[in-house]
Amino acid sequence: MSHAPNFQFRIWSFDSDALDLERGCVIRRSYSIFKIVVVAVLLALPTNWVVPSVRAAEGPLAPVNLRCEYLKNPVGIDVRQPRFAWVLRHTERAQMQSAYQLLVASRPELLAQNKGDQWDNGKTLSDDSTQVVYKGKPLESGHSYWWKVRYWDKDGNASEYSHPASFEVGLLSAEEWKGQWMGGANQLRQEFNLAEAPRRARAYICGLGYYELRINGAKIGTNVLDPAWTTFDKRVLYVTYDVTANLHPGANAVGVMLGEGWFKSRALMLQMDIELASGKHVSVTSGPSWKAKNGPIVSDSVWDGEVYDARLETPGWDLPGFKDDGWMPAASVKAPGGVLSAQMMPPIQEVDSMVPMALTNPRAGVYVYDLGQNISGWVDLHVTGPRGTQVQLRFSELLYDTGMVNRENLQSGYRDFVAAKARDIYILRGDGEEDYRPRFTYHGFRYVEVTGYPGTPSIDSLRGHVVHTAVKTTGSFAASKPLLNQIHKIVRWSDLTNLHSIPTDCPQRNERMGWMGDAHVSAEGVMLNFDMAAFYTNFVRDIHDVQDADGTVTDTVPLRYGSRPADPAWGTAYPLLCWYLYEQNGDRRILEENYAGLKKYVEFLRSRAPDNVLRFSYYGDWVSLETTPPAEVSDFYYYYDTLLLSKMAEVLGNTADAASYAQRAGQIKDAFNKEFFDEKTGNYTTGTETANLLPLFLDMVPEKSRETVVSNLTYNILYQHNTHVTTGFIGLRYLMPVLTRFGYPDLAYDLAVETTFPSWGYMLANGATTVWELWQNKVGPSMNSQNHHMLGSVDTWFYEGLGGINVDPNQPGYRHVRIEPQVVRDLTSVSATVGTVRGDVTSSWTHEPGVTTLQVDVPVNSTATVSIPKDVEIAEITVHEGDRTIWEKGRFVEGTPGVTAGKFAHNQVIFEVGSGHYSFRVDGK
Ligand code: BGC
Repeated sequence: MSHAPNFQFRIWSFDSDALDLERGCVIRRSYSIFKIVVVAVLLALPTNWVVPSVRAAEGPLAPVNLRCEYLKNPVGIDVRQPRFAWVLRHTERAQMQSAYQLLVASRPELLAQNKGDQWDNGKTLSDDSTQVVYKGKPLESGHSYWWKVRYWDKDGNASEYSHPASFEVGLLSAEEWKGQWMGGANQLRQEFNLAEAPRRARAYICGLGYYELRINGAKIGTNVLDPAWTTFDKRVLYVTYDVTANLHPGANAVGVMLGEGWFKSRALMLQMDIELASGKHVSVTSGPSWKAKNGPIVSDSVWDGEVYDARLETPGWDLPGFKDDGWMPAASVKAPGGVLSAQMMPPIQEVDSMVPMALTNPRAGVYVYDLGQNISGWVDLHVTGPRGTQVQLRFSELLYDTGMVNRENLQSGYRDFVAAKARDIYILRGDGEEDYRPRFTYHGFRYVEVTGYPGTPSIDSLRGHVVHTAVKTTGSFAASKPLLNQIHKIVRWSDLTNLHSIPTDCPQRNERMGWMGDAHVSAEGVMLNFDMAAFYTNFVRDIHDVQDADGTVTDTVPLRYGSRPADPAWGTAYPLLCWYLYEQNGDRRILEENYAGLKKYVEFLRSRAPDNVLRFSYYGDWVSLETTPPAEVSDFYYYYDTLLLSKMAEVLGNTADAASYAQRAGQIKDAFNKEFFDEKTGNYTTGTETANLLPLFLDMVPEKSRETVVSNLTYNILYQHNTHVTTGFIGLRYLMPVLTRFGYPDLAYDLAVETTFPSWGYMLANGATTVWELWQNKVGPSMNSQNHHMLGSVDTWFYEGLGGINVDPNQPGYRHVRIEPQVVRDLTSVSATVGTVRGDVTSSWTHEPGVTTLQVDVPVNSTATVSIPKDVEIAEITVHEGDRTIWEKGRFVEGTPGVTAGKFAHNQVIFEVGSGHYSFRVDGK
């Protein structure tokens, strides 16, 4: 098979930002047909038609995918030295960047003339195409900047400049905020006059708990449930909007609706900086001249829902000239206490709509809608009826056999807390057709019960809206085994619906917390599926914000449930997330900024482990079916965190710390084995799956006993549990990688495709559309959410194990990639793509007895080691790449562009390759 057409397609798809093609398999009932048609048409076009300019060009092509602080053209950042990244393209294989030139200009015209008046680094010899730190003139608050970049390839040929990108700076210092914190009611308004047309206007807003900003009758932006949840007395986030087009000369009005959110109160800080046509500057800020009045939102709560009385609407309140009789002066309120920081991550948005798939009427006056999918978000209601009619919407994940909604699981395990009410109430105006959707709450649900509806509702009376942090899909996974694709799909749903400015545990009951254990076990999988760098960078800062002087962090971040100090298997999210961000993106800054905090954290753990064993724990291997002593779990993480700290110190060039923490890690490991390992039986503690796999994962097992521990683990799975998982969500994260690494990928696969209890197949067979909290199928009261993401960590293995795409921690950010697909059992194909900071990495294989094919994509400026397993039946293999032979008679054949070396080891044929698309075929006699 020739690789040329495929390569063309890859080039085109790199620049697909504008099209934002969705990969993966989210059900998008309403828009999917349209998308499929668009994609099908594009794919059907001759490739030279799709990219005529690319075809014509040779050599290095202009960089694409320009990012600033991981974001595309961000508006309102508050980093004084932002970092840039771009993706390189080239028509040849094995290409690298040898130099680059980056221009930053204060005006787009200057950039168009190739003038970087803010920064022009000249031709800089460097292969850095990510994490490039701005080193130009100081950036100024409220300014926009434009930038572009070109590069020289390894042979010294220069590319064209990229298309321009931009970034805007928000307010860099506290003194620049001129407004006051106002509240007093849930609607605030102000009118103002502009003498001339605005040339440039920005609104900076922090409206707590949640806000909706309106100017001259229209909602500004598409953010909902904004701003992000933070530790409000440490930090609050403001959002910047370009409102130039919303303002006009003469009278203008600004209105803000406020919800309570997690802040549990209301406070607004707003500043609009307006530059008029003449160059004059005007500011509109929140203050005592604003007017306030409670609007139609009678109550709002994240857990309980919203009560909206449409009779209380005051049409025109967000327009100039409104008669504000009955409005009171807004009250000044206490400042939340935290510093104002820019919100620098994708916002929460309505990302999709869903038409219900069924409507039933299980009891007189009770209507139940089924969306067919467990989502996070809300519905909008379409209704006509008499004034004052009260329609109630109640949300659930489950139904009783009677068809009525089962809401017993809306209460967390914390028994003293009251269940989430999870309902919205709408009271009609009574003047014709009315539409309602809530603003300041969200629900986790599949079913909606409607009562009090005037007349008979139809399927069109209600639409579902999927609401979560709007991260871009960057990865994809598909296998020949449908069950794996179904598992991948429900994991994706659980991951996405639990991104609500922080990684939550679940979206339905009285929790939705940033439980740290949950966060770290899913993080890598989430990073492989979506563009997560900005999101987790923000969450790491949230963790840093909760850290006390004694080094402790908390079980939930921001702290709401759970304890301080965190269970060590939860607190470990702090070092682990930093490390994952470093591995995935080459992000050194996250290590620099958190090193002191991480060190304090590890020192705190040490203070609790006088004999080098850390025993304290609250949760252990949470939701497991067999108990592993919690102390073993805690101590495993004490070792892990200490080890990571030594690695981080090494990355940062702190050799003294690197050595002393490595030494301490060694002592912890010895103490761990002394405390928990029984050399005679070859078992750790209780010999459960988790007990034995944790030390294997970090190579803690004494070498002479390793084989015994591995065989105890596999024996336990195979013979004591008939090939079933018994771990909780902590052990589970490492189960598949351990089995794979120690030679049992087939067993990992058998666990993945199991369909009886306990397994993912069992969840699916029982109707799961998201991953359950428990292995058990429970539907009664107490802890059994139908949508927890943590048991979905198996998805990481789909990419890393089956797809075989692995980051190399020694060359992070996919500078070097290890492609090691696992060809297992009856699987005949797997295709995986990870959208890395340097471009897409793809591994796509097929297998039939005697023949394995593997297509690989390696981004420009990266290299890869590609390992292809040999079929055991074949004595002598031959490997082709495209139409050339690269391995024959037990030897590497040189001369194929991009393939620099080959060897045979551990029953795999292993090649070193440069960037480009490769098409391998392994066969033989
Ligand atoms: C949460 C979990 C969390 C756990 C800690 C539960 O209520 O939903 O996911 O990690 O508490 O024990």
